Amino acid sequence: PGIAAGGHTKIRTGTDDQKFGLSLTDGSAQHAVTRILDQPHLELVGLHCHIGSQVDSVKPYVAAVRRMVGLMARIRDQHGITLPQLNIGGGHAIAYRPGEEHLNISALAQRVRAELEDGCARAHLPLPRLTIEPGRAIAGPAGVAVYRVLAVKRTGTRTFVAVDGGMSDNPRPALYGVRYAPRLVGRPTTAPPRLATVVGRHCEAGDILADDVALPGDIHPGDLLALPAAGAYHLSMASGYNLIGRPPVVAVSNGTARTLVRRESQDDMNRRDIGL
Ligand SMILES: Cc1ncc(COP(=O)(O)O)c(C=O)c1O
Repeated sequence: PGIAAGGHTKIRTGTDDQKFGLSLTDGSAQHAVTRILDQPHLELVGLHCHIGSQVDSVKPYVAAVRRMVGLMARIRDQHGITLPQLNIGGGHAIAYRPGEEHLNISALAQRVRAELEDGCARAHLPLPRLTIEPGRAIAGPAGVAVYRVLAVKRTGTRTFVAVDGGMSDNPRPALYGVRYAPRLVGRPTTAPPRLATVVGRHCEAGDILADDVALPGDIHPGDLLALPAAGAYHLSMASGYNLIGRPPVVAVSNGTARTLVRRESQDDMNRRDIGL
């Protein structure tokens, strides 16, 4: 719908002049509608948009609804049909670190419905069935990534904590600069906190999971670091980068654990190797 929203330019899908979507401003959306209506085997049931991801304010959704209702009215005027469905996608921001903004879902529901009702009343359109597609907001907070510390390096000014994963299991930090807030789990400690940079094991200086996070000063190889909000865009974005192998997924509930996805093994990777 020609709306810039989302946590980073690389996850803003609602702007004009990019690979996603059919623009409202250059007439592509209306042209597509005409082409669909010309196809006897297709039934146009509604409009869909997805404006971006990690959107932490309600405003862009309200603007998207306004523009989509505008298009519905133009379609009615031009073709004499009213569309029964409107889908405004997902992109609801979650907090990855303490103090980070997340989208207020109740405010979203209230403001989007109000805009839809007002807009449809103004345009004399019947209310369409409204759909949203939350992804990260459901799956993200449900997952925790657990890394083992491989090495601790102290320079004059900084402490680097290297873990056994990184950009191959989670490329978000390297792709668009996201930073996490890992914390020590698995053992108690009274050591005073010290600022540390948590880095991955891959062959890139940009493989950084967390910058300047307070971790116990006695952190050492073998320790476990837990990284919250890893349930979305983590394993699904994991890759074969540096042939490290993708991690397992373990479901945990009421003190019991069950493997859902097994760890990728050397064998898995060798299987594709045809050899000389
Ligand atoms: C069409 C569409 N809907 C919904 C989503 C979910 O987005 P999010 O996980 O940010 O809520 C995406 C994500 O790429 C998408 O492309």
